[in-house]
Amino acid sequence: MYRKVVRPVLYRLGRGDAEVAHEQTLAGLRLLGRVPGTQRAGARLSGAAAASPRTVFGVRFPSPVGLAAGMDKNGVALRAWPALGFGFVEVGTVTAHPQPGNEKPRLFRLVEHEAVINRMGFNNLGSEALAARLAAYGDLGYPLGVSIGKSKVTPLEDAVEDYVTSLRRLYRYGDYFAVNVSSPNTPGLRSLQDAGHLRELLTALHTEAASMSVAGLAGKPILVKIAPDLTSSAIDELLQVCTDVGVAGIIATNTTVGRAGVESHPLAGETGGLSGRPLTETAAKTVAHIHAETGGALPIIGVGGILEPADAARLLDAGAGLVQVYTGLIYRGPGLVRRINRSLP
Ligand SMILES: Cc1cc2nc3c(=O)[nH]c(=O)nc-3n(C[C@H](O)[C@H](O)[C@H](O)COP(=O)(O)O)c2cc1C
Repeated sequence: MYRKVVRPVLYRLGRGDAEVAHEQTLAGLRLLGRVPGTQRAGARLSGAAAASPRTVFGVRFPSPVGLAAGMDKNGVALRAWPALGFGFVEVGTVTAHPQPGNEKPRLFRLVEHEAVINRMGFNNLGSEALAARLAAYGDLGYPLGVSIGKSKVTPLEDAVEDYVTSLRRLYRYGDYFAVNVSSPNTPGLRSLQDAGHLRELLTALHTEAASMSVAGLAGKPILVKIAPDLTSSAIDELLQVCTDVGVAGIIATNTTVGRAGVESHPLAGETGGLSGRPLTETAAKTVAHIHAETGGALPIIGVGGILEPADAARLLDAGAGLVQVYTGLIYRGPGLVRRINRSLP
């Protein structure tokens, strides 16, 4: 039904412009979220109520299936997502300064490959605006992750202060925080995955979180989101830093700068991060590697190329405690989330 009827309509929105279709879908969901009772009724229909709840890094999730960062960057449709079956949502990535992102077009669908290339560049209203919006929502009734990144105008050497500013503003609203050091669309950002930079950044964020705890809020989980393009030894170094600093978990993975499997597509040459089906294998291998390397001690959110319940099961079997979906929602629609929820043991 979604693929035959709804998807063709969505793809034609904005005369085939993928970003316009995305914005209109988000606007529709925002309206849906305003209908009283949507959240509870929708969650029942979409199978979330039947999904297996679990506690990961000290947070209780009604379903292990979450919405990945980037879909609802500014948190405009937070009342609607549970109605689609999501057990948690990661808003952002937000930055300390509001910013428009890269020039359009910056989002491309490689339909034959069930893949997307994006170079959005953290278009967002900024962490102050997000904090105001989250304050207005009040209690959402499900766990919220908040993804933070570096503003484009902030030089790399001042990155730490940029992340810390956003953490401070958003600390009271998030149930966990994702430190995004893996987007390919902000120049230099991925170099923050190097051991030295990462240690400095994570230490500063933990110090800030500890000072917030003094203000009466318990130490909240801070996770690191990594790229799928790191070598095994780079991942191992990163994991050592994460363990030393006391990170709560790893989110694996962000989009890839690789083009394996889509080389011959006319859009393959577009700059940006590739997501969807071409990422399924890499994401599963990365999750398995992290699980093995840490002996299962570090919780993992598995993300990348989930287009079927079996893809989610594979990440969970590889050691992920939770999973997230983005591109699968574009190609398979919200029915995918329902089917994953129903397939969970
Ligand atoms: C259009 C688009 C925008 C994204 N923006 C973000 C972002 O702001 N922050 C982030 O951590 N990941 C972002 N991602 C990456 C996703 O959260 C996810 O890690 C990646 O797409 C792999 O999952 P998927 O194959 O299910 O899409 C974005 C992905 C897409 C397609």
